[in-house]
Amino acid sequence: MEFKDVLQHRHAERFFTDQQIAPATLQEIVTDAKQAPSWANAQPWQVVVATGKTLAEIKRGHLERSQRGVAGNTDMPVAHRSEWSAASRQNMATFNGELNRHLLAADAQATYGQSQDRLFNAAALVYLVLREPVNSWAIFDLGAFSQTLMLSATDRGIQSIPAYEIIRYPDALRKMFGLDQTSRFIMGIALGYRDRAVINDFRSSRVASSEFLTIRD
Ligand SMILES: Cc1cc2nc3c(=O)[nH]c(=O)nc-3n(C[C@H](O)[C@H](O)[C@H](O)COP(=O)(O)O)c2cc1C
Repeated sequence: MEFKDVLQHRHAERFFTDQQIAPATLQEIVTDAKQAPSWANAQPWQVVVATGKTLAEIKRGHLERSQRGVAGNTDMPVAHRSEWSAASRQNMATFNGELNRHLLAADAQATYGQSQDRLFNAAALVYLVLREPVNSWAIFDLGAFSQTLMLSATDRGIQSIPAYEIIRYPDALRKMFGLDQTSRFIMGIALGYRDRAVINDFRSSRVASSEFLTIRD
């Protein structure tokens, strides 16, 4: 795919088909992601990918906890809206309004919650883990790693969503993978093939570049 097409095709997909992703393809996607830059080439990322039986077990546990109303307990504290700038708060409100209107028009409001509860019916869940001590630069590096990973997936016809939902219950994940508290589950990315679900037709908007860009000479 042309780079421009990859950029335009990547978006958050919230429900995937049952089609599996070949292990070799997962390996290639993660190998592409490691080309991301990092502080002094620290390459702080640890990556755990769940597929098959492991994935099924994670999905089962997540659905059960979610339906029971178990509160999330993420390794990185969740930032309250008041901790975001006014401009970011406005953008989040716009996003919520646009997504709600999209789902309402299709009488599909329930599908958002269902997509979260079912971990997007992902074919694979990629966990981005940092070993302690964790610092802000390592989290920055993980962002670069994530975007590279998602663009590589798009280039291979595989869609993605980065989601808080995926790392909502990190203690269960540590238990599942035999990791201790020094492994911090910072973020999760769901991968899979596009489903025709209405929620996947939603496209988030972006503010004009003039609202955040200054070029001085
Ligand atoms: C750090 C982070 C956390 C996110 N968490 C969720 C989530 O829990 N559930 C969800 O449906 N989308 C989640 N998203 C997806 C965003 O809503 C989405 O990326 C954003 O609205 C822009 O839309 P696009 O990715 O389709 O361009 C998250 C994205 C990021 C970067």
